[in-house]
Amino acid sequence: MPATPLARMVWLYPWVATVADTTPVHVLLHGAGAVLSGVGAERGPLARWDEVGLHAGCQVVLAADKGTASGWRVAWLGAPDAPDRPACDARIDLGGRLLTPGWTDAHTHLVFAGDRAAEFTQRMAGASYAEIAAAGGGILHTVRQTRAASLDALVASGAKRLAELAGWGARVVEIKTGYGLDRATEMKLLAAIGNLRRQFAGRLQIVATAMPAHAVPPEWKHDPDGYVALVCDDILPAMAAAADPPAFVDVFVERGWFDVSQATRIAAVARALGLGLKAHVDEFADLGGVQWAIEAGATSVEHLLVSGPAAVAALASSATVAVGLPLTSVFLREPFAPLRALTDAGAMVALGTDCNPGSAMSCNLALALQLAVLGGRLSAPEAVRAVTRGGAAALGEPRGWTGRLEPGAPFWATVLDVDGPDRLFYELGAPPRAWLGLDAGLAGAGQLT
Ligand code: NIG
Ligand code: FE
Repeated sequence: MPATPLARMVWLYPWVATVADTTPVHVLLHGAGAVLSGVGAERGPLARWDEVGLHAGCQVVLAADKGTASGWRVAWLGAPDAPDRPACDARIDLGGRLLTPGWTDAHTHLVFAGDRAAEFTQRMAGASYAEIAAAGGGILHTVRQTRAASLDALVASGAKRLAELAGWGARVVEIKTGYGLDRATEMKLLAAIGNLRRQFAGRLQIVATAMPAHAVPPEWKHDPDGYVALVCDDILPAMAAAADPPAFVDVFVERGWFDVSQATRIAAVARALGLGLKAHVDEFADLGGVQWAIEAGATSVEHLLVSGPAAVAALASSATVAVGLPLTSVFLREPFAPLRALTDAGAMVALGTDCNPGSAMSCNLALALQLAVLGGRLSAPEAVRAVTRGGAAALGEPRGWTGRLEPGAPFWATVLDVDGPDRLFYELGAPPRAWLGLDAGLAGAGQLT
């Protein structure tokens, strides 16, 4: 039987937690087919792997404080015979595989109940996303199912999706709420995300985003501004005060959903609560959302399917990250975001799956990478940068993670079952998975030699 994706993870954390004193422990990673550090320019075109820090014959030394379970950091990178290589307590043979910074899925809605498979068939027969939503389906369909679901059921289905993402190389995942649209259910979704964070501690870093402004719920259909007031005065303050508060607030700026003036009210509350800002913009209609979000100080703008030259130019001269979601373009039969133009102009780019039941029913981050190249016209090194450095920037560098393997950086890395990065893209629809082996070995320290 093939191993499950989850069993294939680089899973160093449980082992160090079992070692019982406070001096640092060092582990040597050797025998990599290639090491991709991710170190290189943050913006602008790239054409070659060395521009994202590809090294052959490189070794890495990790360090962690014994007994603290505080996680691993990169202590050293270099040639095997370099005189400054620290002494190591254990060695792991990577068997010719590729070591890279872990991929970041910068945009998911993966905690939800039910599915919308029937709506998918309707869309493929010609119904539009907006028509289905206007008839009470779409996001509101999932809201009804999510309101009725138990916390445990939401955690269980979310955990399956996270395990799949991890098997495709993800180590850092953003998850948005937004299928509750009332205080109780938005809090339930936030609690589910917190639960998943604890369940995957050390294996995945999970960043929560509050998105009660994902749609106007049916009970506020005739008073959308009243719902925005509820979001601002009640739902977001409650979420910010939760035991596991979100890092960001997101709003769906779109014709038929929320306009720029409503989004401005939400952004002001996010700022007052000390939360970062993200925005869904230009998915179907250009409402000037990119320029608005940059002015509002958003960390990222996401989707961008219909973004034009003015939005591209504005992003190029800003610190706001452009998050591309190529699976959504395919699943909605819509155009790809202008990732090529954004990169050429000098904007920072990140990628995500958008995993959700309506517009991208997939956790396949590796396929999203392939489509960013084939549909989004990024070069392969640019796509890798987007899921490493770009993703870290889009999530505000959570827990010091920069998307790069460099001395001092936390070790959120992955080992992919492939000898070098070309094959990440070449085998269409069959990208390499994260590698089986380190988890079992390190959990009992049995395979450490
Ligand atoms: O990112 N655009 C809004 N939210 C999701 C779709 C959510 C859904 O259809 O359930 C998106 O495409
Ligand atoms: Fe989305």
